[in-house]
Amino acid sequence: MSTKITWHGHSAFTLETAKHKIVIDPFFTDNPANTTPIENIEADFILLTHGHGDHVGDVVSLAKRTNALVISIAEIAMWLGQHGVKNTHGQNIGGSYKHPFGEVKLTIAHHSSALPDGSNGGDPAGLLLTLDEGKLYHAGDTGLFLDMQLIGEEGIDVAILPIGDNYTMGIKDAVRAVKFVQPKIAIPTHYNTWPVIQADPEQWAALVKQETKAKPVVIPPGGSWVWE
Ligand code: NI
Ligand code: MN
Repeated sequence: MSTKITWHGHSAFTLETAKHKIVIDPFFTDNPANTTPIENIEADFILLTHGHGDHVGDVVSLAKRTNALVISIAEIAMWLGQHGVKNTHGQNIGGSYKHPFGEVKLTIAHHSSALPDGSNGGDPAGLLLTLDEGKLYHAGDTGLFLDMQLIGEEGIDVAILPIGDNYTMGIKDAVRAVKFVQPKIAIPTHYNTWPVIQADPEQWAALVKQETKAKPVVIPPGGSWVWE
């Protein structure tokens, strides 16, 4: 079994397992780093970290076209319902649920989460996924927090961490995050979409190699890494 992880730039990822297509933070149309037309994106499940426009992105149209189940914090699930998305599953921080592709637990993230129309998006979240291959932690948008150690205690195989600074952790804190989470593989995200979050992923990767036991994997926008 293997899962193909594709980065579409910014915070958007596609996970293709043997049976399911899972899209995280479907920001395609207005994403300057994305190269895949939204029409080519298929989804069985859509996972959202929080309510900001650069994360919910195309969720309403993609969910309606694919009838994918959208999994998010409860407030965003309710908001999607008000926008005609029927297939939703609301969770909340610390709660796990077994979905057909694996378990999803929402973790804390230190950020904000208003929806694009100003509606309350509840608390921002990170995603802790248990798939056939192991555990994947997508931190969402967040600053560094010490409780990442608690997430690390679960035994993380792959951690996806923001490095772009300004809105989230920057390079230095994202290296400290690797030390807290102790993943086998660390993948950078949320950088170089716009000038304000410009960051050199190779600089981060070099520090991760130097200071931690994790293997950094830098995926170019539109590129993939296969998790076996
Ligand atoms: Ni955000
Ligand atoms: Mn963001």
